[in-house]
Amino acid sequence: MDGWIAVGEQGMLDAGTMTDVNVGDQTVLLVRLDDGYHAMQERCPHRRAHLSNGTLAGGVIVCPWHGSRFEASTGRNLDWVDNLPAIVIPFVKLFSPPKDLQTYPVKVEEGQVWIDASVVGSQGES
Ligand code: FES
Repeated sequence: MDGWIAVGEQGMLDAGTMTDVNVGDQTVLLVRLDDGYHAMQERCPHRRAHLSNGTLAGGVIVCPWHGSRFEASTGRNLDWVDNLPAIVIPFVKLFSPPKDLQTYPVKVEEGQVWIDASVVGSQGES
């Protein structure tokens, strides 16, 4: 894929909310914070849960399956599999080390939210 793709109207999300959007044949997580929109991979890097089914509070996305937490403005991992029993977490981290979310360029122009499809397509999120 190449070029910027419009994914919705500028006001499609309120600050502090998120949704999944289609960018070509890929699904991307679109988050709106007080400073604007941010786009990142929609599947959790642990076991591919849909992060759009998780929660967003205080600028932090929490995975609905095992509680990994990610900074919504950067995709940076903050906690990994926090909801699993403490005894198994070291083993999970050994075989599935913490990962950040891949982020994608996003802009607001002409009243629309745009995501750079060339970056999304080249990084294989689905
Ligand atoms: S699938 Fe997200 S923390 Fe396990």
